[in-house]
Amino acid sequence: MSLKNNKIITIDGPSASGKGSLAKALAKELNFILLDSGLLYRAYSFCFDHSQNHSLAADLFSNLNIKSIDHEMHVFKNEKDITSILRNEDVAKSASELSSLKETRENLISFQRDLASDHGLVADGRDMGTVVFPDAGTKIFLVADVEVRAKRRFLELQNAGQEVNMRDLIDDIRLRDEADKDREISPLMPADDSIELNSSNLTPQEVLKIVLKIYKEKTKEV
Ligand code: DC
Repeated sequence: MSLKNNKIITIDGPSASGKGSLAKALAKELNFILLDSGLLYRAYSFCFDHSQNHSLAADLFSNLNIKSIDHEMHVFKNEKDITSILRNEDVAKSASELSSLKETRENLISFQRDLASDHGLVADGRDMGTVVFPDAGTKIFLVADVEVRAKRRFLELQNAGQEVNMRDLIDDIRLRDEADKDREISPLMPADDSIELNSSNLTPQEVLKIVLKIYKEKTKEV
């Protein structure tokens, strides 16, 4: 049996399943660093949109400044915080398309792995437990019903001042779920040693409490 790294917690699952808020709350609670890998895919796709070429996109990406502020990842381009631009639905769509390509995933893997350290890491994404950190000590696969996820995304985007339509959001989420699950490289799927949790009828605080309990039990196992 391979040795597990108790300083890494992975949270995988489909979009808007509550991974982001859970990962942030966990990072805060445990004082761990947060890896928001979806934001990296969005940043990479922003670079690719400007270059239409993987090697140029990788160069542009390496010139971005990615830092942690209050346990949240922020992306800066020439001193300008572009995180909120990266959160919009158009970027999400191109990130989803690009994320199925081998070049994209290869260009991002070492940046992600380099964030693992003695400080501890909470890694949020689709392939954190399966591909990027297979040795993580605690692996959560967070799911929620599609209507619940669309409602959450609707409120998030509305609060950010973006106009959205609930029907379109449900369709987009379904399409992206299929694309994430069906892609050949690093598809969205639970790791064999992950614990699946459905957050549809749970508050963020309840989800946090359950996961902290799992983490504490896992770290006692060694
Ligand atoms: O979690 P998010 O919506 O910010 O992710 C944006 C896109 O990036 C999503 O469509 C799937 C992709 N992604 C991925 O392929 N692998 C990850 N580890 C994280 C995100």
